[in-house]
Parts: sequence; C-alpha cells; structure tokens
Amino acid sequence: MVKVAVALVACAAVASAFSAVPQAGKPHIVLILAVDYGHANLGYNARKTGNKQLIAETNTPNLDALIDDGVYLSQHYSYAVCAPSRSSLQSGRFGSHVNMFNTAPEAVNSADPISGYAGIPVAMTGMAEVLKSAGYRTHGVGKWDIGMATPAHSPFGKGYETFIGYYQHANDYWNKRGSFLATGEVDMCLSLMLDFFSYNETYRGGNPNPGQVTDSCKCQEGTETGCQNGGDENTYPSCFEETIFMNAAMDRIRAHDTSQPQHPLFLFHSFHFLHTPLEAPIAAIRELNQTIRDKGGDPINLESRLMYNSMVLLMDKIVGRLVQTLVGKGMFENTLLAFLSDNGGPIYLPAGANNYPLKGGKWSDWQGGVLANAFISGGVVPASIRGTVHAGIFSIADWYTTFAEVAGLYDNDEMKYPVSLDDGVLVDQKAKAANDWMDANRLDETTNPRLPPLDGVPQWAAILAGRDARDGNPIHISPQALVWKQDAGLLKLVTGKQYFGRHVGPVFPNCSTLQSGQNLQGPARQTVKFLDIQYEPSTNQEQIDTLTWTEDCGGGCLYDLASDPTESNDLASDPAFAVELERMQAKLAALNATLFLPNRGDQPSTACDSFINHGGFYGPFMALEQTSETHQCAQ
Ligand SMILES: *[C@@H]1O[C@H](CO)[C@@H](O)[C@H](O)[C@H]1NC(C)=O
Ligand SMILES: *[C@@H]1O[C@H](CO)[C@@H](O)[C@H](O)[C@H]1NC(C)=O
Ligand SMILES: *[C@@H]1O[C@H](CO)[C@@H](O)[C@H](O)[C@H]1NC(C)=O
Ligand SMILES: *[C@@H]1O[C@H](CO)[C@@H](O)[C@H](O)[C@H]1NC(C)=O
Repeated sequence: MVKVAVALVACAAVASAFSAVPQAGKPHIVLILAVDYGHANLGYNARKTGNKQLIAETNTPNLDALIDDGVYLSQHYSYAVCAPSRSSLQSGRFGSHVNMFNTAPEAVNSADPISGYAGIPVAMTGMAEVLKSAGYRTHGVGKWDIGMATPAHSPFGKGYETFIGYYQHANDYWNKRGSFLATGEVDMCLSLMLDFFSYNETYRGGNPNPGQVTDSCKCQEGTETGCQNGGDENTYPSCFEETIFMNAAMDRIRAHDTSQPQHPLFLFHSFHFLHTPLEAPIAAIRELNQTIRDKGGDPINLESRLMYNSMVLLMDKIVGRLVQTLVGKGMFENTLLAFLSDNGGPIYLPAGANNYPLKGGKWSDWQGGVLANAFISGGVVPASIRGTVHAGIFSIADWYTTFAEVAGLYDNDEMKYPVSLDDGVLVDQKAKAANDWMDANRLDETTNPRLPPLDGVPQWAAILAGRDARDGNPIHISPQALVWKQDAGLLKLVTGKQYFGRHVGPVFPNCSTLQSGQNLQGPARQTVKFLDIQYEPSTNQEQIDTLTWTEDCGGGCLYDLASDPTESNDLASDPAFAVELERMQAKLAALNATLFLPNRGDQPSTACDSFINHGGFYGPFMALEQTSETHQCAQ
C-alpha cells in the first residue's frame, strides 16, 4: 500500500500535465535503437577503412543511404553496457544518474519505493511520457531491459500506449526463452520463463499468440522441409523475433491516423539485433554469403562473425522496410528518424563484432565501447545539411531533451508538462515532486537517494546550425571516464582498470575457430552468471586481466580525440597537458560525488511464482492492480 501512496503523492503535482493542449505541425519521430553495434559493422564506417574484406562482409545499404540523406553524429556517446545506456536514453540522465548496472529485473527493495527496483526509478518521467504530453501517439516495439517489477516500470508506465517485446537483457530469437547463450547468465527462474510480453487497448500480458513463442518457423541448415517461410528472403520467417517486431512496427505506422497533425507518431523500434544469442534466419546467411562472393571477398570462416554479419544484413533490411512503410503512408517527409546503438560492439569471444579502428569494445570505456553509431535522417532534415557529419559531442541522454525540443517543449514555459521549463532548463516535475515528498517525510538520503535532474541538452537547433551543443559541458561517460570539449580541445580521460584495452584488425576475430582465438590469449568474456552469482574466467586476477586484455590507466590516461580518435597516444605524462589532466581528474571526481546509487534490493522468490501464474511469462510481478490512472495519478 505504501508504494502506491508514494507514487500518488509523487506525481500529484503533474496531474494536469496530461490534459495539456498540444500544438499542430510537429514531426513524427521514429527512434530506432540497435544493440551492441560495432563501429566497423556499419557500411558507412567500413567504407572508410578501404579494407576489401571488411567492406564485403558489411552490408548496410539502407542505413548507408539514410546517412547519405541525413546527418551522421560522429561524437555520439553512450554507456558501455545495455541497461544503463537504455535507462539513460529513456530518462534523459547520464547512466551515472539513473542506472549503472545490468541489475536483474526482479530486484526489489521495499525500503525505497521510488528507486528500489531495477531500471529507471518509478518517479522519473520517461521519454514517451514527455512526447505523449505533447500530443504524440506513442508505440514501443522490442527490447526493454530497464525495469519491469510493476506496471509503472514497464513501457506502459513510461508512456508507451502499446508495446510488444521482452524485458530481460536478451532472449532466444526463435522460442523467446531466456537462455545462457543469450545473456551469459542463468537467472533465478533457471531461465525457464518465456520472455515475450505485449499490451494494447484491450490486452496486457504474456504474448497470447502461440506461433510467436515457438521454434515453429525455424529453418535448420540442410533441413529446410517443414519450416514455414524459412527460406524465403522476401517474407522473413514468421516466428523469428525481429520479423514479429518489424510487422508490429509496420502495423503501427499503417494504423497511424495522419488526419490529426496535432497527434504525430512516436515509434520506438528497439531491436534485439545484434545482441547474443547469435541467431539469424538461414535466408539472411545465404544472402550474406552471396553478397560477399559478389563483392569479391573471401567466405567467412568463423561462425560467430558469419552470424553477426548476417544479423547486421537483416537489421538493415528491416530498417529499409520501416522506411518504405513510412514513405508509402506519406509520412516520411515529416519524420525525424533517429538511429543509434546502445553501446559499441562486443569483441570478446564468441561475439562477432568489430570496432576497428577504435580501441576496445562493449563493457569498456574505450571509444570502441562508448562511441556508438548514430545518425539522424528523414524528411525534416533540411536539404542544406543532408550528407554532412555533425561533430558536436552528443550524449545518449540528449535524445530526450532533443525530442522535447522538436515537440515544442522549449518554446513555451507556460505549459504544464510532466517536464517543463524552469529558467530555460527542462525540469522533470514528477521527479522533483518525488524529491519534495522524500524531503517532507525526512527520508534519509542514504536509504532514499534523491532523484538527479536531467542531464540532457537539446541538440536539434545546434545540429541545424552546426554548433556543438555541449561545448564546455562534459559527458560523464561513467565513474571512470569523462569526455569534455574545452578550449584545450576534445579531451577524454579514462581511469582505472579497463577491459579490452587493445586495437584489433579490420577483420576481427581473425581466427578460423573460437578455440584458435582463445589460444591467442583472448579476449574472454569478463564474467558469467549463475543464479546471480558471478563467475570470473579465472580465479587468478592476473590471468583474468590477461584473458580480458585489461589495461590499467590508474589515475588517468588522457587522449586528444580530435587528433587521436583511436586512443593511441596517452598524453597523461606529457607536461604540456599536466594542467588539463588535473582539471579532467578534478571534474571526474566532482561528477563522481553525484553518483546515483540506490539499493535496488534482492530478487524475491515470489517473482518466479508470479511468472508461472501468468502463463510462464516474465512481466510485472508486483502492484499489478496499477492502471494508467493510478500510475499517472491523473485524478
Ligand atoms: C490487442 O492485442 C491482442 C492480443 O495480441 C489482440 O488479440 C487484439 O487484436 C489487439 N487489439 C488491437 C485493438 O490491436
Ligand atoms: C555461408 O558461408 C559459410 C562459409 O563458406 C559456410 O560455412 C556456410 O555453410 C554458408 N551458409 C549458407 C546458409 O550458405
Ligand atoms: C588480427 O589481425 C591484426 C592485423 O590485421 C593483428 O594486429 C591482430 O593481432 C590479429 N589478432 C588476432 C587475434 O589474430
Ligand atoms: C570516481 O568514482 C569511482 C567509483 O566510486 C571511483 O572508483 C573512482 O576512483 C572515482 N574517480 C575519481 C577521479 O574520483
């Protein structure tokens, strides 16, 4: 009961927000989020290396065409892993101010009803809530991974009118179960649950379509009889997860009512691609093989790279289909399409990604982990800047404020939105009300940390003007890293021990078997998990460091990214940079004093029981009586 009461108090202040009268003429916003996308696995970046084999293996004609007609964001920073990055995107805060861990989504700490759960705290206003308040029709498809304990944590509570997707870090693309191959973890329910959830006006729960939670359409190599659509490159296999997401997204676009310009579309298309498990329909693999032959490349002799690049190829085709659907409906001309990855590519074995020529990969603060592929495109990008590169620094937290800007929330500080202007700065009023409530009840800040303000800055006008919206305004990459553009240049500080501190070749992993890769001393995945207990690849720390290519930057490695984008030249011991090094270290320490570290709690054993009672599907397992009304506390 306490929980619901708190939620009510926390959002009472913004009860009127949802009746705000929206303006007309705003663009549709289509936000496409890829997972674990390697820098070199995007054709646009592969092209620049001039490496024939890499170019042959990397097939993204649709993404490349969108970039050629749009603006590439060459300094777009995310968090180094999925859940923090995605929390940052949906909440408008740096990972350090919303969520720094891939916590199990079942975590609960009842002593902190605001933040004592996995994912985004209940009283932070979500991106879709912001857009909904500005009149948008909001739909979500795909990977969530940022909380599900109660309906208020799910896409439903964060502003999405409809959703179809999954809650954990990853599931199996065919049968939708959690699996060790998907996440490197066996979870508290022994990974036996189905991870596929949907809701709309009339339904909420585990996906009721049995054909969508089985292997029924899977086409095994060599045994293509009996599988439906499995070998057809045009139709895509019907039970493959990305096909289901694509069809759902196309349905939302087709069903959108364009006769009401005051209610534009906001579609969040959140791929499972290119996260493990490495799975792709056979048609995609076959097509990749053919394309590589056509481009004069050598056949890929490593399973993981073959699968990863097949997934890249299919992801690109799906983006093409979404764009076609927007064009067919006459919406593309008035669309802002944003494409980004939640972090860089994983380079540990058996992943198949490649961040060449950048250093490191997912789970590290090197550029290969945090400089994520990103661009904008669509009809609303003015002709004058199409095909250009925007080099202003951009945090994944900035999409929140940028979409708010596009939706007109910076134009009128009279409007009562769940986030609204205060002295020109966008303030999350719901979070503020929760903080006021905690203050009024004298809750201790150590057990009930106050919610940090928004970190995002609006980037739209800056991109149009070719200006750096974050000049002088640093990005807190993580407690161990900082990117800061100042008069001295575009500097990056990396501190402490970091995994994967190496550069790889243009075609990576360049070994013929994973075993041969392992014989070359790594890199190994840094941990695996069984029932929430973490196992390192070795018991010997020195050996772990060797296997994971760990580099120790100690108090700081310093890079000038403008002249050294691959982090090859550490300036920390250069006397000419002594002052800058100290300034960067002091800034990082100051930001580290603001870390948001609520106790997310333990996983109650009742969670698995609840899933079993709901057909064996993951989903909200507490406060299930919450409806949109109680959550938004409109009345
Ligand atoms: C809502 O979802 C259910 C279950 O998938 C489906 O049967 C129903 O047709 C959907 N309703 C609408 C209006 O889309
Ligand atoms: C694709 O090519 C690889 C490398 O030659 C081969 O091992 C694999 O069987 C091929 N797969 C398909 C579906 O063509
Ligand atoms: C891969 O090839 C690059 C050169 O292209 C080389 O520097 C690197 O050591 C190789 N890595 C492995 C694991 O063989
Ligand atoms: C930043 O915070 C982290 C985590 O608390 C700590 O390990 C690191 O030393 C801090 N760095 C600085 C420069 O304060």
